[in-house]
Amino acid sequence: MKIYVTEDYQSMSRKAANILSAQIILKPTSVLGLATGSTPVGMYKQLVIWYEKGDLDFAGVKTVNLDEYVGLEPTHEQSYRYYMQHNLFDHVNVNPANTNVPDGLAPDPKAECEWYNQVIRQMGGIDIQVLGMGHNGHIGFNEPGEAFELETHVVDLSERTIQANARFFSSSDEVPRQAMTMGIKSIMMARKILLMVSGEDKAEAVKNAFTGPVTPHMPASILQLHPYVTLVGDRPALSKLLEA
Ligand code: GLP
Repeated sequence: MKIYVTEDYQSMSRKAANILSAQIILKPTSVLGLATGSTPVGMYKQLVIWYEKGDLDFAGVKTVNLDEYVGLEPTHEQSYRYYMQHNLFDHVNVNPANTNVPDGLAPDPKAECEWYNQVIRQMGGIDIQVLGMGHNGHIGFNEPGEAFELETHVVDLSERTIQANARFFSSSDEVPRQAMTMGIKSIMMARKILLMVSGEDKAEAVKNAFTGPVTPHMPASILQLHPYVTLVGDRPALSKLLEA
């Protein structure tokens, strides 16, 4: 695993944007696995700036997002489709038909997950998967549990995740209780992983994920087994890992 330690959120964002740009420049038809949450917002901002400068071209790129809340329409401000449109897709020349996020309003979420697995296969797999990480070590919405879930599936969100994400909603009652997420196998099949972490509140989880056992109780720990992981984090988030 390659680790980049940066001084703050801004330089973490810039480093991650550099890595993603390198991918797009070297392979203009890349399949990008994308993530939401507060962590990658600055990276997307930087990518848009470089696109506007003419340094990046998304015309050949395809994207596939990790997850989506069940029950939120794509125009809902907290849906991950809305997030992607707002933070990236609406500002660059990616073909909208080549952007994929599970449909939160799909009448049969299980069937939607099946379809999503097909989409990923038809694209020929993911070249680079961007990940953030929850405080309990979740990646995408793969919550700690007894077993690693394989492909895209419907998940009941843990109380901790509901509380952590409540800050984006007017109250925790409004946070959807379920989501659709790529599974651990879908993530591990990506050719490269770019994991971004920021803030001291993630430090314990980062340390446990990379120095503890590989276990479904700490979903991010599976990344220890991936052959090509780049971890980009600011010093507060990496502090405990670096001490270990
Ligand atoms: C959400 C998302 C994850 C994300 C995590 C951390 O639950 N499903 O993909 O990595 O939260 O979010 P943040 O970056 O806001 O800390």
